[in-house]
Amino acid sequence: MNDIVVEVIDGEEVRSRVLELGKEVAAAYADTTPLLIGVLSGSVPFMADLSRAMDVDVEMDFIALSRFGQGGQVRFVLDTSKPLDGRDVLIVEDIIDTGLTLQTMIRTFLAREARSVRTVTLLNKASRRIVDVPVDFRGFDVGDEFLIGYGLDWRGRYRNLSSVWAVLDVDALESRHAEVDRELFAPVGDNLRT
Ligand code: IMP
Ligand code: MG
Repeated sequence: MNDIVVEVIDGEEVRSRVLELGKEVAAAYADTTPLLIGVLSGSVPFMADLSRAMDVDVEMDFIALSRFGQGGQVRFVLDTSKPLDGRDVLIVEDIIDTGLTLQTMIRTFLAREARSVRTVTLLNKASRRIVDVPVDFRGFDVGDEFLIGYGLDWRGRYRNLSSVWAVLDVDALESRHAEVDRELFAPVGDNLRT
């Protein structure tokens, strides 16, 4: 235990909810092969587990985005490699926060004449929303704490944790991260079990 990070969703809870979500999402695509578009890098663990929990065939693609400017403008750093016209697109996100990223993606994919654009997110931070965006499938509603693990990063790190943790003190994480890492990644091997 420490006063810097606290586990909010353990690995077993994540695993069982992702299995349920996979079934729920697959049922919506019984008659079509959806194109899952994952947002790099945060969606990678979720994409891998969710897609394997779906009992329908899927295709996968990835995009990378970066935010710039005061107004929260979003730029594509890496774009899809497949044409989207006529496709049933499912955007796969780790977390939806302000909704600005998702709004840009939905508009862009509809403009490319996708037949449908839906969204699945592991985590939903509804209290932080700036723009109203539809979220079709969600794993967990969370508060407004800064979270790490299962795709979510702090400065590019901690994405490979199997559970989700809240950072209670970001400054302390910076100055005492070696100590925190011992708890997050210990005992060695445990992270791979769930
Ligand atoms: P937004 O919905 O456009 O504000 O942005 C969502 C993106 O912000 C996510 O895909 C994450 O990359 C990042 N993000 C939002 N909240 C958190 C968090 O608590 N921890 C880590 N990344 C976050
Ligand atoms: Mg992200």
